Amino acid sequence: MATIRLCPDGRLIEAPAEMASFLEGEGLTCRNWDVSKLREGLRGNYTLTEAEKAEILAVFKEEVESLKAEGGYVAADVVILSEKTPDLETLLGKFSREHHHSEDEVRFVVDGHGIFTIRGRSGRYVEITVGPGDLITVPAGTRHWFTLAEDRRIKCIRLFQDPSGWAAIYDDAPARGASVQT
Ligand SMILES: [Fe+2]
Repeated sequence: MATIRLCPDGRLIEAPAEMASFLEGEGLTCRNWDVSKLREGLRGNYTLTEAEKAEILAVFKEEVESLKAEGGYVAADVVILSEKTPDLETLLGKFSREHHHSEDEVRFVVDGHGIFTIRGRSGRYVEITVGPGDLITVPAGTRHWFTLAEDRRIKCIRLFQDPSGWAAIYDDAPARGASVQT
């Protein structure tokens, strides 16, 4: 279950009903899929083969297809960030700069945790910590940044509306338009 912390005052929203209505008011969505149906070897393992990644996508085929139909997504893949990721700190340095995308950023967390800080519709920044089973959508054009949580690892299914055109547009000016996939 995701947790929400409001910025800058740090107030936590934990009650599911309050969380749902708050997110809706800010134009954000966070849902939950049943991650327990994945076999053990696919969880807690951050060095998956391409076949194992395909197996994860196959287990969630129904959910992914339904989301594709709902949001116009055309492709899905599995991405892993862990201590075994080459140049992890460089990547995190890019992800943690405020940016937005011309399409939705959709992540279903299979394992590990991540922290999205997102500028909601009201202009307020909201810190959403996601973990196993959480499906988060950052709508196109919405400013945000991302970092890992204390466990320093995450494994996600990503969905794309146009994988070839997906890139970060930085909101802190200098490298505007630089391409980086989170
Ligand atoms: Fe992003």
